[in-house]
Amino acid sequence: MAKEFRDFLSVLEQQGELIRVKEEIDLREVSARTAASSKALWFERVSGYDMGVVSGILGSRARMAASLECDHREMGKEFHRRLANPIPPVMVSTGRVKEVIKVGDAIDLTALPVPLVSMLDGGPYITSAIGVAKDPDYGRNVGCYRFMIRSDKETGVDLIGASDLKLFYDRAFKQGKPLPLAIAIGVHPSLLMGAAHMAASGQDEYELAGALAGEAVRLVKCETVDLEVPADAEIVIEGELLPIGWTEDEGRFGDFTGFVGPIKFNPVFRVTAITHRKDAVFYALHMPDEVDYLIAPPLEGSGWQALSVAGVKATAVYAPAAAGCNLHLYASIRKRPGEGKNALMALMSLKRVKHVVVTDDDIDIFDPESMERALAYRVRPTRDIVIVDGARGSHLDPSTQLQVTKGALAPLTAKWGVDATIPEGSDISEYDPIDYPFKASDPAPTQAMATPANTADLAEAIAALLVKPLHFYDVLAHFGHTPQRQIVQAWGLLRQHNRLDREQATGRYILK
Ligand SMILES: Cc1cc2nc3c(=O)[nH]c(=O)nc-3n(C[C@H](O)[C@H](O)[C@H](O)COP(=O)(O)O)c2cc1C
Repeated sequence: MAKEFRDFLSVLEQQGELIRVKEEIDLREVSARTAASSKALWFERVSGYDMGVVSGILGSRARMAASLECDHREMGKEFHRRLANPIPPVMVSTGRVKEVIKVGDAIDLTALPVPLVSMLDGGPYITSAIGVAKDPDYGRNVGCYRFMIRSDKETGVDLIGASDLKLFYDRAFKQGKPLPLAIAIGVHPSLLMGAAHMAASGQDEYELAGALAGEAVRLVKCETVDLEVPADAEIVIEGELLPIGWTEDEGRFGDFTGFVGPIKFNPVFRVTAITHRKDAVFYALHMPDEVDYLIAPPLEGSGWQALSVAGVKATAVYAPAAAGCNLHLYASIRKRPGEGKNALMALMSLKRVKHVVVTDDDIDIFDPESMERALAYRVRPTRDIVIVDGARGSHLDPSTQLQVTKGALAPLTAKWGVDATIPEGSDISEYDPIDYPFKASDPAPTQAMATPANTADLAEAIAALLVKPLHFYDVLAHFGHTPQRQIVQAWGLLRQHNRLDREQATGRYILK
């Protein structure tokens, strides 16, 4: 059985991460209720609509990782590992998404429960769709795109960023032709991740989704366009991007950054068919959290790949949500001399990544306090900060300036990286963290021998121990039943007789 949207809902439900809302709700409530909930929500009854709405299913790193059946710290590594084995999709004759087929006058986008996600959005947005299109030279492409409801048969689409869909549309537009497009709503997260991954043009993202799911994606032919869509999707909308160019208003839209983007001028998607399951559920992907966590595995996966190509041993890679799981990338590495900087350069080259921190494998890069300490004690700014100006950034980062380069607008920014690894040549003992002796959780003290009768005998017993280097702690631990005061007195005797020496690097004592 192929992995589908419903399977993932079941997984979340079993983990207690998805709650069914039984009472009838107004569609207008969906977004705020999802934002206020720590769990994903399944609104089973939406007033005036035949379909329920699911929202928030990817709204945490843990839920995102559940789709890859791994811990959230491992999801980038897992993404990278699975992508190494693409699995081609298989064609099937039909699927549940064909249970209801609507063409011609029966097409009605307003029958879908598409909520207004954020307050300043230009209208209700379909946020969870993967879109498939073809180009005669590049072949098939799948990506994630947003669709603003304009009317019962038209949506807006954002074709400003440098996506393959934009490239295909550009080429069709120059020939005055519409570009057929089909979008699928309610697909397994492996399809969303595969589509969101910035794969090279010409790479079939259905194969990547197969790799991520560990099994082939099942595809069916569309009704009205020459395209293939997941047979197990909840809903498919077929149509074409009209050859009108960037002429119609689209947006504003609360984007992955957590900011509301501007009104844009974009093409229009005209619908030629809607097919869906009889009991279809609409997936309202909540912004910005769900899109952020969705992008995390692909970006962290690219980080693992870049470090592997650079020959650096990575131990963790993390794209924090506060930077949209997009602009900032942290990595911990097992460093050989110079690799802090090599790792920086590898990660800074990634598309959209603006800020990189590389640190050592003793730092927990998922813990802001641990990161703060690395920045405080391992960095000399004049030596360890690398800034590269004039690099390509994200046009959705409001601090990026769109610069005119030979007639085209390019989102130019600077990238900066911080090498927060322990500097080469450091005395490593200076980084010994404080730890507390004799914790309640430690095993109870033992003592192999009875406490010597007097201070001189105790001093000799300690001296016998110090044939190998020991910390003062080891002596206290060894004589676990002898009062500390007696040990310090015997220690004083050894000092008086000048019998103690120190190991410079560790600070351990040894008998002279
Ligand atoms: C939920 C979601 C919605 C997205 N919406 C858009 C969009 O409307 N326009 C766009 O250019 N990129 C959008 N992106 C980013 C693209 O999906 C991403 O860049 C992808 O690599 C594009 O695929 P393509 O280059 O194969 O076309 C979105 C990403 C996600 C995860």
